Amino acid sequence: MRERPAKVVVRLEVNGDRHQLAVEPRTTLLEALRYELGLTGSKQGCDKGDCGACTVLVDGRPVLSCLTLAIEAEGRRITTIEGLAKGGKVHPVQDAFDLSGALQCGFCQPGMMLSAAALLERTPKPTRREIKEALSGNLCRCTGYKQIIDAVELASAQRALPERDERPTTGASREG
Ligand code: FES
Ligand code: FES
Repeated sequence: MRERPAKVVVRLEVNGDRHQLAVEPRTTLLEALRYELGLTGSKQGCDKGDCGACTVLVDGRPVLSCLTLAIEAEGRRITTIEGLAKGGKVHPVQDAFDLSGALQCGFCQPGMMLSAAALLERTPKPTRREIKEALSGNLCRCTGYKQIIDAVELASAQRALPERDERPTTGASREG
């Protein structure tokens, strides 16, 4: 019987929290996130780079965590869907997916939303073509893609608005 390889210590920064894990060198980032850290938002779909369900952000860029070793992510900034909302506020992409009905079973959504959030960081006003390109590695078997692309456009528009409590009031009263 083959011996299991010796474990190595890997330090990961995930959603702003630092972790130190002992894992086999072949452990993927996806396995470390899901099975060592309990962050199950990143989905294990095909496990071979075809579906995008495992997408996370590494230093702000979308990465397939099923094709990335945990040790490769050491010293990098990892964001999973659990870290997309900040300070108790959902990310505009999460809000827009909800408002646009771009959700059904939800399996593709964590990866889809992270790819979309990364796109809006680098291209705040993307064209529909740019949205399609940015999401081309994320497959959805349920919704069709129109609502998803609509959602990213809506998120782009929402990001351009001031925060709700900073928006100017019209002065008009609803009463009376
Ligand atoms: S699970 Fe990683 S691409 Fe499908
Ligand atoms: S909502 Fe089911 S795979 Fe996309």
